[in-house]
Amino acid sequence: MNNGEQKGITLYPERTIKELGDLFGLFFEDINHAADGGLYAELLQNRSFEFCEIDNAGYHALTAWGKSDTLQWEVKDTQGACENNPHTLWVTAAPNAFFYNTGFGEGIYCEEEKEYLVTLRAKSLGQDVALCIGLADFSKTTDKTTNKTTDETVDETAAALLSDEVQMTIPGKPETKEQEHNGYHIYKGRIRARKTADGACLRIRLPEGGSVSFDTISLFPVETYKGRENGLRKDLATALEVMKPRFLRFPGGCLVHDGSLDSKARNSLYRWKNTIGPLYDRPARRNNWGYNQTLGLGYYEYFLLCEDIQAQPLPVLPAGFNPHKGEGCDLSQIGEWVQEALDLIEFANADESTTWGRIRAELGHPKPFGLKYLAIGNEEIGEGFFERYPYFHQAIREKYPEIQIINSAGPFPVGEGYEAGWESARKHGSDLVDEHYYSNPEWFIANMHHYDALDAKGPGVFLGEYASWGNTYENALVEAAYMTHLEKAAAVKLACYAPLFCNISYKNWTPDMIFFNEEKRLLTANYYVQKMFMEHQGEFEIDAVGTNLGQRQAYPGPKQLDGVFSIAGNSIEGRIEKLTIRDGENQTIYSLDSLEITDSKEQEIFNIPKTDYVIEFEFQRSKGRKGLYIHLANHLVVWEFGGWDNWDCNIQYLRRGRGATISHAIFHVEDIRYRLRIEVEGSSVTTYINGKKWNSVMIPQPELEELYYCASVDQNGDTILKVVNLTEDEKKVTVDIKGGKENYRIAQITELSGNSPTDENTFEQPDTVCPVQRVESVTSNAITHVFPKQSVTVMVLKR
Ligand code: AHR
Repeated sequence: MNNGEQKGITLYPERTIKELGDLFGLFFEDINHAADGGLYAELLQNRSFEFCEIDNAGYHALTAWGKSDTLQWEVKDTQGACENNPHTLWVTAAPNAFFYNTGFGEGIYCEEEKEYLVTLRAKSLGQDVALCIGLADFSKTTDKTTNKTTDETVDETAAALLSDEVQMTIPGKPETKEQEHNGYHIYKGRIRARKTADGACLRIRLPEGGSVSFDTISLFPVETYKGRENGLRKDLATALEVMKPRFLRFPGGCLVHDGSLDSKARNSLYRWKNTIGPLYDRPARRNNWGYNQTLGLGYYEYFLLCEDIQAQPLPVLPAGFNPHKGEGCDLSQIGEWVQEALDLIEFANADESTTWGRIRAELGHPKPFGLKYLAIGNEEIGEGFFERYPYFHQAIREKYPEIQIINSAGPFPVGEGYEAGWESARKHGSDLVDEHYYSNPEWFIANMHHYDALDAKGPGVFLGEYASWGNTYENALVEAAYMTHLEKAAAVKLACYAPLFCNISYKNWTPDMIFFNEEKRLLTANYYVQKMFMEHQGEFEIDAVGTNLGQRQAYPGPKQLDGVFSIAGNSIEGRIEKLTIRDGENQTIYSLDSLEITDSKEQEIFNIPKTDYVIEFEFQRSKGRKGLYIHLANHLVVWEFGGWDNWDCNIQYLRRGRGATISHAIFHVEDIRYRLRIEVEGSSVTTYINGKKWNSVMIPQPELEELYYCASVDQNGDTILKVVNLTEDEKKVTVDIKGGKENYRIAQITELSGNSPTDENTFEQPDTVCPVQRVESVTSNAITHVFPKQSVTVMVLKR
């Protein structure tokens, strides 16, 4: 109760509670072109002519490449420079003819005076061939309306140039046999940009004409993160480093487990052994987010990145099971998958006397990477996963007892998949359980205490993906409040926001933490919150006791479910029959004999004027794989009957168009007749299929607490207090620090405040939401501080 007395937070730095360890980290997945066309600094798209329609229906071997009229070309797949990467480009050019690559997204961005490294794997098909390679203005190279590239005069060629041209000669017969394979040879050169420009292309001109075959053509900025060859984009990697993440989860996400079980298939699951070794030999693969992955950013590079940003590596391996299709490897073959996991640990941690330790050393890293965590599966649903997981668990435990093994609890914070993950983890003694959820801010506010009661003696929580469906200031504030509870909950050991990166030309999924184009990055409000919590995590949580902070305030939102009832197919056809709606007095208020369901068209059925009612109908699907979306109360609640890949019987609660899954069961809709029933009573919804109860849930009734806070001590002995104020009132609080001999002298304050809930950072105004830092001197161990309305504050108290 707030009785108007002074509010206080008393900190007890000597009463340590929870070891924070690696609590706050990052999750990287190649979604939204986060790797190729993003963090991975390669500037050319389709560098080895491997794109194909399996990656994306619009792709072909010459995607992103163009040429002038008098150059003839052909992509061949029989005489490649290596087995895994079979395509080569065969070019025959008249003098001064050229071809070019337009890069990713908005075209290549180049900066005046910066150098770029061109690497070719090529062979001459006749005499010596001279090449002049430079960056050129794409708009001057191609007629945008006809998309046709005519031959240029020497003057026009020069006018389009944005850089020096590097001159290379592909000899009729390579002079050295070093690195030669099947006649192909590596050639390198540097070009210096003369101008800063976007929309550039890399142009390869044959001033004297000739015939050449190219296996790979690559372009990197010389200046990559930490100067590594085959390295990472400096601005993006630096944005991660300065957050001081404790771990990095990679490489996915659904990227890990969505695809073919055959590691040699174009659309295979993410198999780590495909991703190491010489670049030209890494097989091009379909990325399940609808594009191609070169695997140039592979496991070795991920481990290096972790080392560079000082984050613990946390790889996720597929479990020989693809939940998207419900396909698993034959159990007699599971040994191969388990061996892959054991080999990965050997690759990361063993010395050079071992097979995989030696391979790591040969790649350039004799020192082990110190792997501590390994996740098996990514948000897996279905028995197929849980019958395979124990094989991995037992083998890893036996051979590498020091590794913390992570089990998986599906894509929702409730329900059958979630319970199955926890049950399996408890049964087998998994160290951690990977939980994922994307929910609206209302869900987060209503579930701040989600983990409070969870026993810390059992498996720990790895919150491997979460976000509150938005990049506004409000989203960031709510996530910050939630993070104070993640820090305090005894069972929560690791947590990371998702997804991390998004190239704005290729949005698969929003929100994301960092957006970028080819030139620059955009740090979101969510990024700043994550950074504040990571940078100031501390080593141990300490006791923090609030006084007069018990007031709660209802968060505005609906309490009942009257309104429009509508139905849509989930890419199916079928028929609804004998539909009735009865009110709380059992009176029929609406009935319908029959309704055709076609495709995904939503059909409004009836605007229900009551708060208590029962809907019943029969349904049979005639075409398609999934089921129905059944909407209540003007889209406030949706019952997904056969949702996602026909796995889900879900209830989602929607606010401002963004959902939170509040009930989940596994259900596969078949082509048979179902009797469906929905009972609504005020804020409660219960569903039945053929008389059996499936979902039973109340819509969230969130309440704001006065302040959300947590405190810790770091390795310097500093005391850290994090406070989130979600209310519209500032809070004047006495922060009293008990114990310790010396007084604190300085408070370093990082504050995110002063924005309206809908504010968002944009490329035009990137600093709209941005924390500010100040240092205040402190004269006593009782400090009076005003926490602004709607703010996040990190106070580091130093002696
Ligand atoms: O983060 C985006 C996707 O969300 C991940 O690939 C998947 O694990 C989750 O469903």
